[in-house]
Amino acid sequence: MNLTIIGTGYVGLVTGTCFAEVGHRVICVDNDATKVEKLRAGGIPIYEPGLEELVKKNVAEGRLSFTTSIAEGVEKSDVVFIAVPTPPQPDGSVDLSFIEKVAREIAGAITSYKIVVDKSTVPVRTGDKVAETIKRYCKAKVEFDVVSNPEFLREGFAVADLMKPDRVVIGVHSQRPVAAMRDVYTPFNAPIIVTDINSAELIKHASNSFLALKISYINAVANICEATGANVQEVAAGMGMDERIGRRFLNAGIGFGGSCFPKDLSAFIKISEQVGCDFGILKEVQKVNDAQMNRFVKKITDTLWVLKDKTIGVLGLAFKQNTDDVRMSPAIELCQRLQREGAKLRVHDPKGMDKAKAILTNVEYVENMNDVAAGCDALVIATEWDEFKKLDLERTRKELTHPILFDGRNLFDPAEMERLGFIYKSVGR
Ligand SMILES: NC(=O)c1ccc[n+]([C@@H]2O[C@H](COP(=O)([O-])OP(=O)(O)OC[C@H]3O[C@@H](n4cnc5c(N)ncnc54)[C@H](O)[C@@H]3O)[C@@H](O)[C@H]2O)c1
Repeated sequence: MNLTIIGTGYVGLVTGTCFAEVGHRVICVDNDATKVEKLRAGGIPIYEPGLEELVKKNVAEGRLSFTTSIAEGVEKSDVVFIAVPTPPQPDGSVDLSFIEKVAREIAGAITSYKIVVDKSTVPVRTGDKVAETIKRYCKAKVEFDVVSNPEFLREGFAVADLMKPDRVVIGVHSQRPVAAMRDVYTPFNAPIIVTDINSAELIKHASNSFLALKISYINAVANICEATGANVQEVAAGMGMDERIGRRFLNAGIGFGGSCFPKDLSAFIKISEQVGCDFGILKEVQKVNDAQMNRFVKKITDTLWVLKDKTIGVLGLAFKQNTDDVRMSPAIELCQRLQREGAKLRVHDPKGMDKAKAILTNVEYVENMNDVAAGCDALVIATEWDEFKKLDLERTRKELTHPILFDGRNLFDPAEMERLGFIYKSVGR
């Protein structure tokens, strides 16, 4: 099939590439001309495991191309996906201006029947607004269908998630676009659920809010573990063996962040308010998440007392492992909190340093994780990168001026760390 993806970011680029990989011809559109130039020149603007090889292969085989022109994408495709940002506004609601602008541009470019698919995460009833907008601005008066097809990929595992999705949700108002949507996804061999558009939109917000709830739940349990001498990892293991609960998303730490959970959670709270249903439990999820960061900073200041003029090493800047994405990263927030207390920072992240440099200044960026501890008063682990588990602990202990390690992601075994001579503080253990 001929497909266009408008918005070539974490979702658009990976989706477009995976669609090409299964044989579709895909045009990725972005209004950031620098990004499009870079992609055309063989560069990849984001880090996602396995992505670079797939982009190169599909470009070389002629199934994947890049442009800044929405009109070109619309003209050459049967199905047009929208994957532009839906950032939060100060009151927690979603800024839908990117979606609205793209809808108007699509309207100006359609000359024959098209399926317009919203893949961005949007509040319920956005599909209706997109349809109204296209109808209003489309001079050609041609037929079109709007479909909601929310994306569930996890950054860091996006290629794998897209090639083998748990489910594909297709929200429609009529049956007309269903066959084509099935054709888009048939090569992925995934269960497809067809719903009305409002339900599809709600599935995404309800899913992300539920995952955030699971994280806050285990963080609240972690605090009880700390107060009682229990071990949250053992509690999570025991809970997770119950199939109704599951072990995933039961990792205590410094809280969730990133470009999705915080904004989707506040959006869902706002939507619920707007329709007269107060979703109080989700406000509690936010509260626990904020408190979790405060608790961790307090753990550091309780131990080190005054941070002014102390040097702290921080491992991890990305909002989670396997990504270079630092948007709303708890690790960055933690660094900024420590800076506000007067600490000097030496920081490292396997993939996130380039992007962090734009938002985290006045720190020393260190290329090798094993060099970070040198001369530091303490070391902090802020992101759950697997490679941090391979940190040279002997060397780290010797190079810290005091062998203090705050582990915000519970990567090490407390008993082993004690045996190695560390003052080791983690979460819920
Ligand atoms: N990142 C994730 O893990 C993830 C997962 C599921 C869903 N989502 C949702 O997908 C959407 C996109 O997220 P993202 O992380 O890919 O964002 P992103 O910022 O990485 O990418 C968005 C891209 O859209 C481009 N763009 C903006 N306006 C445009 C326009 N008018 N025309 C063409 N291009 C335009 C931007 O230049 C950017 O490259 C959001 O709604 C997000 O909530 C994200």
